[in-house]
Amino acid sequence: MIEGWLTEGQAARLEAAAARSRPSGAVVEIGSFRGKSAVVLARAARSLIAIDPHAGSDRGPQEIGADAARGDADFEAFHANLESAGVADRVRHVRKFSSEAHADVTGPLSLLYVDGAHRFGPARSDLHDWGVRVAPGGVMLVHDSFSSIGVTLALLVECFWSPRWRYVGRTGSLAEFERVVDGPRDVGAWLRELPWFARNVVIKVLVVAGQRRWAERIGLDPAAPWPY
Ligand SMILES: C[S@@+](CC[C@H](N)C(=O)[O-])C[C@H]1O[C@@H](n2cnc3c(N)ncnc32)[C@H](O)[C@@H]1O
Repeated sequence: MIEGWLTEGQAARLEAAAARSRPSGAVVEIGSFRGKSAVVLARAARSLIAIDPHAGSDRGPQEIGADAARGDADFEAFHANLESAGVADRVRHVRKFSSEAHADVTGPLSLLYVDGAHRFGPARSDLHDWGVRVAPGGVMLVHDSFSSIGVTLALLVECFWSPRWRYVGRTGSLAEFERVVDGPRDVGAWLRELPWFARNVVIKVLVVAGQRRWAERIGLDPAAPWPY
């Protein structure tokens, strides 16, 4: 089993989106870590461009600073996992930060999976600068939506307050959007997710404060380290 934060239900949603017919264009993942989501996408879409600098930075909850040894270990594990899953020949890895990788991908995107840095600035850039490249009728999926504060605020600004995206729904923290042309802004949908977001923030505060028992009482899966 590949280490990572994608749940089974989320893997099924990713797989369904990647297997569905879409406008032509590249399938791109931002943030691959050790390959859990990349294997799902590569199997379903047959071809994937995976962007991850494997610098050991913005790696997971509370792992923001760079750590070269940690990043190199992720890089090795990522490629070993692609080989074991039999999808290495379907994945092109771009070992760069997403903001520096635009020239490595030509043409429009048909599917974009965003799971890179979760801080507001880089998350917003991913949603805007990469999202704008998704062809109308294409799909964007965003992990840690309504769970990470940075990602949730970036979603408000770049997706719910934008005529470019229609909110389809979510599986846990995996939100799905369809690329539209001049659709209605739907801040109401974002507001409707706020109670679930508030619950996740409270759970995180309790976990960080060492009160896991209370976090589980309000819904944290005992088998999960964090709400996803
Ligand atoms: C939460 S993990 C991704 C998990 C992965 N999708 C999975 O299914 O296991 C975040 C990843 O984003 C990468 N990352 C951090 N900053 C990034 C950036 N600016 N551009 C692309 N990837 C980034 C990290 O190296 C890390 O591997």
